[in-house]
Amino acid sequence: MKGVISIGLLALVLAALIGAHWLLLPDPSRRNWEFFPDMVESVAVDAQSPAAALDDGTQIDLRPVPGSVARGYSPFEYPATPEGAALAGQQLRNPFTADDADAVARGAVVYSNFCAVCHGGAGRGDGTVTRRGVPPPPDLHLDNAMQMTDGKMYHVITTGQGNMASYASQLERDDRWRVILHVRSLQAAQPAVEDAQ
Ligand code: HEC
Repeated sequence: MKGVISIGLLALVLAALIGAHWLLLPDPSRRNWEFFPDMVESVAVDAQSPAAALDDGTQIDLRPVPGSVARGYSPFEYPATPEGAALAGQQLRNPFTADDADAVARGAVVYSNFCAVCHGGAGRGDGTVTRRGVPPPPDLHLDNAMQMTDGKMYHVITTGQGNMASYASQLERDDRWRVILHVRSLQAAQPAVEDAQ
């Protein structure tokens, strides 16, 4: 008798399950039934899709407002022209001074890693590449570089000049200032030479 009830109950449960399955007709291509959909369907938009709110085909990823400055980035507003160099020379000041031992030491490292290959260890314009056909840079003891303000030198390193490329992407801002301390110490270490030009 007990066995009969169990089998009957089992049959009933099975029938109920099959019935429920047939009634609900689950669609495997969709989510299961959502009792409280709340945030299941995200309103997030796909990157680069048109922004519906703007209605003019503008993409979701808006361009920064003109004049925006990215965090951690400091704009350099002097164009790579002689006028830009002159203006930078007048307006920019080196935030580091020669009595800052750490900055001087770091400047020496930067110089030997990035500049000496062309300008030479002593700034004579005789770096190793000049012996392999690269046009030698001017001696940093010539009047031009001796009298150049730190601001203008920073402009040369930041935007490049003539055959020298910009070092803005390789040297962070502070390192570009620190290396100038090293150039100054090279200049001070050796007397100025007659300007050949
Ligand atoms: C690929 C070789 C090369 C490297 C590397 C290089 N320079 Fe130059 N640099 C030059 C050349 C060439 C010039 C001359 C550019 C011109 O006016 O035609 C120059 C010019 C300069 C001047 C201006 C000199 C003057 O009298 O007008 C300064 C200052 C200077 N470089 C500093 C640096 C510093 C600091 C570094 C390292 C961060 C550096 N350079 C790395 C090739 C190089």
